[in-house]
Amino acid sequence: MKLFLDTGDVEEVRRAAGWGVIDGVTTNPTLIAKTGRGFRETVLAICEACPGGAISAEVVATEFDAMLKEALEIASWHEQIVVKVPMIEPGIRLVAQLTDRGIRTNVTLVFSVSQALLAAKAGATYISNFVGRVDDFSGDGMEAVASTVEMVEAHGFESEVLVASVRHPQHVVQALACRAHVATMPYAVLAQLFKHPLTDIGLERFLKDWEGAGLSIFPPKVTA
Ligand code: G3P
Repeated sequence: MKLFLDTGDVEEVRRAAGWGVIDGVTTNPTLIAKTGRGFRETVLAICEACPGGAISAEVVATEFDAMLKEALEIASWHEQIVVKVPMIEPGIRLVAQLTDRGIRTNVTLVFSVSQALLAAKAGATYISNFVGRVDDFSGDGMEAVASTVEMVEAHGFESEVLVASVRHPQHVVQALACRAHVATMPYAVLAQLFKHPLTDIGLERFLKDWEGAGLSIFPPKVTA
């Protein structure tokens, strides 16, 4: 499963990319608005901070011609860019046309298998299935992910199912269990994946015992 970072913060991308475990970055208009910087400038800085990664940048128009114009503009900025498109009727029409032009797309705000089917038929590269926002209303966001993965695999679609709106490590583990292709998460959730209290306790003990025995990995320096 690929791991994407869900952020507009270039410093977070730089840090996570340094760990060598992220495959891309997703942004959305809210995340970009939070940065206080320009859209193009931010997205290009993210591309540079995550070399070779798939970087999703979203259109904001909701009418077809305007969406197409925005999509072509965004796609022209950098080869790593994936155009993010909302799950609305002109959006699906846009995805079909971008697919024909060889432009990668990420259909966002997908909550049901029927929506995912339309995105897959249109040739979406990624289908962003939101989980946290469903769980917030005491639903089970992961249910639609599991069914969508099954649909994509059983019917031979090329789209990758991307689990979005991830709120905690358990969502990441559930995404793995569903055999999702990608999970995108905020920096704080990615950082939490490192954590286990027994790791900290265990390491402290190892280091204390090692130091107590006066051992060294390197041979003692020979002085002439
Ligand atoms: O980028 C889409 C998605 O991951 C947003 O997550 O936490 O705002 O529901 P959230």
